[in-house]
Amino acid sequence: MSVHPFWLAGRPATGDETITVTHPYDGRVVGTAAVATPAQVAEAVAAAHAVRAEAAALPLHVRAEALAQVSRRLAERAEEIARLITGENGKPLLWARGEVARAVSTFRFAAEETRRWSGETQRLDTEPAAAGRLAYVSRVPRGPVLAITPFNFPLNLTAHKVAPAIAVGAPVVVKPAPATPLSALLLGELLAETDLPAGMFSVLPVPNDRAAALTEDPRLPVVSFTGSGPVGWMIRDAVPRKHVTLELGGNAAVVVCADADLDRAAGRIALFSNYQAGQSCIAVQRVYVERAGYETFLPKLVGAVEALVTGDPWDETTQVGPMISEDAAERVAAWVKEAVAGGATVRTGGTRDGATFAPTVLTEVPEGALVECEEVFGPVMIVSPVDGLDDAFGRVNASRYGLQAGVFTRSLDVAFRANRELEVGGVVIGDVPSYRADQMPYGGVKESGVGREGLRSAMFDFTAEKVLILTDLPL
Ligand code: SIN
Repeated sequence: MSVHPFWLAGRPATGDETITVTHPYDGRVVGTAAVATPAQVAEAVAAAHAVRAEAAALPLHVRAEALAQVSRRLAERAEEIARLITGENGKPLLWARGEVARAVSTFRFAAEETRRWSGETQRLDTEPAAAGRLAYVSRVPRGPVLAITPFNFPLNLTAHKVAPAIAVGAPVVVKPAPATPLSALLLGELLAETDLPAGMFSVLPVPNDRAAALTEDPRLPVVSFTGSGPVGWMIRDAVPRKHVTLELGGNAAVVVCADADLDRAAGRIALFSNYQAGQSCIAVQRVYVERAGYETFLPKLVGAVEALVTGDPWDETTQVGPMISEDAAERVAAWVKEAVAGGATVRTGGTRDGATFAPTVLTEVPEGALVECEEVFGPVMIVSPVDGLDDAFGRVNASRYGLQAGVFTRSLDVAFRANRELEVGGVVIGDVPSYRADQMPYGGVKESGVGREGLRSAMFDFTAEKVLILTDLPL
């Protein structure tokens, strides 16, 4: 099996070390990625720094065309790339294909936003002292972006950092998750086919314990991190003078109101608690059901969960595959055990087979259990009855996290109330919190992070306003 080179300032390179990438379902080797040495990391950072002015000056049509080209190439190679994602991440083909389709859109949206990327003018002669003055306010890159990306969407969450960086004319250095570097390296290959200046991107698989060389380097003033809370907040605390965006986890909640279509809610919640084996920051974890509908809803939900096809991710019909590793599944098993020891009832699931954890529904979960308070990041949901909206929204908000929440209701009043009261970055009415459109602002409050992704939002995030004041104009 050949070694996948990494991308050092736009060129393929290898070092003296490699990472072996294994398939989570059966442990078979799916690829070997070259690891960048500390000297090569330093070279990539120096290249990003050196090219920053050239990158910022790139005409919009050059940036837009490069982004559109990557989008087209992703579409052309979609099936091959989906299989690469399934191989390294273990997510079923169903979800891997969806991820590639989303990445095609992410790059396309970035190309479109690039063509709309203009500054604005502001007349300053609102005051007598500023007669004849006009401001042109543009946004300029804060500097090269360090993109640290997670294993759960190894392609599209890399796209969400690379595409807006290119759109605003910022060089980008990607550090992919060590478990899933191959999708990011493939993206490097597609970027290398474009006319972007060589130093504008690097993709560097390096072990996590060597990431500090990147996060602490002042030549990478922007850090965009998606991953676990403890790591994200540690990075932010370590580099307080940098512009750090954190897209962290959550224990996403959904409220099922008494007026909801219970069959639809059960089906959506069952699927989106377990998609990607629960390894999504917005997978449904906490389900609060208005008491009037609880006894009817619970068997529907359990039935929908039991109907999910779990198993081999290469099987076209599989909906729930393995977690990223056996260790991850063991951790989830330990959390379920802790809840059960405290009095929780397992309505279905609760078992582990290698890296696969069975889709699990828990009720009567004791207050403070890990499966309630922490991010499970596995195929486990807890279900509780609630007494009205005050109780429901109070329970949703009684969390350290706040990424997205869902509310199944047909009432517009409830929808607007949810939007006012729920302490989250996004409220989804009529569906699960696991809904994300790639062009919309996406990010959390509280310990779920800071900053927003979504193409336009990330472009704002990676740039700062700059004012050009023109004087003595005949306004
Ligand atoms: C995440 O896990 O935060 C990303 C979810 C998504 O992009 O759908």
